[in-house]
Amino acid sequence: MSIVASRLSRIKPSATNALTGKVGELKAAGRNIIGLGAGEPDFDTPDYIKDAAIEAIRAGDTKYTPVPGSVALRKAICCKFKRENNLNFTMDQVTVGCGGKQVIFNAFMASLEEGDEVIIPAPYWVSYPDMVALAEGTPVFVEGREDNGFKITGEQLEAVITPKTKWIMLNSPSNPTGAAYSGDELKELTDVLMRHPNVWLLTDDIYEHVVYDDFKFFTPCQIEPGLRHRTLILNGHSKVFSMTGWRVGYGAGPADLIKAMNNVQSQSTTHTCSISQAAATAALNGPMDFLPSWINTFKGRRDLVVSMLNQVNGLTCLTPDGAFYVYPSCEGIIGKKVPGGKIIENDTDFVTNLLEAEGVAVVQGAAFGLEPHFRISYATSDELLKDACERIHRFCDSLS
Ligand SMILES: Cc1ncc(COP(=O)(O)O)c(C=O)c1O
Repeated sequence: MSIVASRLSRIKPSATNALTGKVGELKAAGRNIIGLGAGEPDFDTPDYIKDAAIEAIRAGDTKYTPVPGSVALRKAICCKFKRENNLNFTMDQVTVGCGGKQVIFNAFMASLEEGDEVIIPAPYWVSYPDMVALAEGTPVFVEGREDNGFKITGEQLEAVITPKTKWIMLNSPSNPTGAAYSGDELKELTDVLMRHPNVWLLTDDIYEHVVYDDFKFFTPCQIEPGLRHRTLILNGHSKVFSMTGWRVGYGAGPADLIKAMNNVQSQSTTHTCSISQAAATAALNGPMDFLPSWINTFKGRRDLVVSMLNQVNGLTCLTPDGAFYVYPSCEGIIGKKVPGGKIIENDTDFVTNLLEAEGVAVVQGAAFGLEPHFRISYATSDELLKDACERIHRFCDSLS
């Protein structure tokens, strides 16, 4: 009999984490690989945040903290919501986990009964469906069509809500498409949710600050305060402060849900590292003066990649409003042959052959629930991005 529990048969390892591992192996074997798979900014964590961590170590801030996070960090989070989103939260309505990922996991573990449905707009962040399945819920997908900028409409949402719907996930700006919902587009969705009082909203705002041009970010509760009592807002430090390795994410929502999530966490990780919490507190309380230049750099990269990809025969790429991903379609490539005769049947074949032929690592759309596409994370230097796009161009031109 297998040592592995049957519940594991419901999930698969994260495709993006797997790709990062593969890229590391190929590089170690001496191949010249450009990895565009990892969803993390390439900037260093700002110095004032690192300094706070060093001070915390020296001050002996190295012991257990409360399960939901230190008082100082939760206060800083409440201030962030007031300052940036004009939302009032109290300390018991806030929880901190080992990254946003753990906060979402805690929420599902704390709230889902077997068979509860969770609506997940596709394309989606790879982990949502698996986390739902691990918590015995049932993911229900609704397609954000490319001709609607990869966003879902109110009508589509209305059509998939059933008496079993427990949650809807929203992620704006989105991983993997960079699509972001305007205030009006959110209103269309929140109006639907107002007609379904038993459905909860989990809004993943982790890319809140990574938006371009004149795009204005809103979290849904700013648009519809009537949803406050059944909304969990997910946010975190990984993307905005370039702190992926520090593992800090947080959630804000109704106190009874937060309490249940804290119970889950108290029996798993207890809390994220006390030193990371000190750094995360300084991050939120400090100046965000590094951000405009980061966003400007990301925007330049986005424009570079979109324009280079749109010059490739067989690819088309939308210009997203946020995050640091593009999600080009490779529909025009499907059915073509690689030199040697193998046919590219789908986007997984496309990314596998691209990696083999040109050493560019991107993630297949199949992992995010909308094919035939692939995701590029452009959080890397202009030089590497140019090189990667030239390699993609060469690869596509080599097909017949
Ligand atoms: C949409 C989205 N949500 C949540 C996360 C979780 O990030 P972390 O666990 O590093 O906070 C990520 C990370 O890639 C993400 O892209």
